[in-house]
Amino acid sequence: MEDKILISSEEIQKRVKELGKQITEDYQGKEIVVVGVLTGAYVFVADLLREVKTPIERLEFISISSYGDSMESSGNVRMYLDLKKDIKDKHVLIIEDIVDTGLTLHSLMELFEARHPASIKLASLLYKPAREKYKINIDYLGFTIDDHFVYGYGLDLFSKCRHVPHVAIYSGEAKK
Ligand code: PRP
Repeated sequence: MEDKILISSEEIQKRVKELGKQITEDYQGKEIVVVGVLTGAYVFVADLLREVKTPIERLEFISISSYGDSMESSGNVRMYLDLKKDIKDKHVLIIEDIVDTGLTLHSLMELFEARHPASIKLASLLYKPAREKYKINIDYLGFTIDDHFVYGYGLDLFSKCRHVPHVAIYSGEAKK
């Protein structure tokens, strides 16, 4: 069975433009420190930032992985790559590809809040409410999706296929 396209490249680009416009309006007069969460967000970061017309002070990437489902999530996060510079008193915009259980973002928000930024907001391309364990406030959301195994537009399919320009639903076995 061929994998079905869930969100076409055209739909994504249209939504990315809208989100970029909204971010531009919301951050008038402010400079943003953008933090992309590796690896899945790399395509969304590149496209979204080209639609943001307000100054971006700097762009950084972090690599973080959360595991376990204890409510005490802060103990269950591993940082592989942290920020190079401080975010104290900065307006931080985190960019993610997907909020699934919410564990990664919950942990990341806790970590960042402790560094006292002036503000902290989140943009996520996708949100999968069916799997939610932690309520995450997504300020700039691309699409809410059902509980599918999705890949493309940065999201991987068993480490591959991140480069496909749309979001597709994997139709095969759970493990390859
Ligand atoms: C994905 C995604 C989020 C996280 C969301 O990352 O990029 O960071 O999972 O899941 P959660 O809401 O259940 O925490 P993944 O660990 O697959 O790494 P990748 O971005 O490198 O593919």
